[in-house]
Amino acid sequence: MERTFSMIKPDAVKAGHVGGILAVLEKEGFKIRGLRMTHLSKAQAGAFYAVHRERPFYASLVTFMTEGPVVAIVLDRADAVKKLREVMGATNPANAAEGTIRKLFAESIERNAIHGSDAPETAAQEIPFFFTGADLL
Ligand code: RTP
Ligand code: MG
Repeated sequence: MERTFSMIKPDAVKAGHVGGILAVLEKEGFKIRGLRMTHLSKAQAGAFYAVHRERPFYASLVTFMTEGPVVAIVLDRADAVKKLREVMGATNPANAAEGTIRKLFAESIERNAIHGSDAPETAAQEIPFFFTGADLL
């Protein structure tokens, strides 16, 4: 078993796709071990995506990620990090494979429905951002 972190972004929460996205994840064999809805502050969203702070899209990304609630998810599965990235699809939904979450639910390269950790070490940093031990299985 490997653990990863995911987040349903404000576009998909607003559009009513929380249930649809969780259904895809469960169908693909992920076990939900933590689940929490929250509304990020600018400081929180900026810190979460700090790795992108020099990128031209950073300010717009922080504005987007704070426009409404998000759903934070901790997931367990064999090869969870790599498998989640596959199930999510490409960052730009125009390039995402058929059946992927971004192909099904994303609006644009920025408003792309879901986040997934890019490595086990990243997941281990991102999970405590949203969950304390008592809220995790
Ligand atoms: P994520 O971190 O959210 O799982 O997405 P990712 O790995 O597929 O993509 P990344 O390069 O880490 O970018 C983080 C998020 O920033 C927004 N973005 N906008 N306007 C643009 O060109 C652009 N590029 C990236 C997206 O919301 C992307 O998921
Ligand atoms: Mg990323």
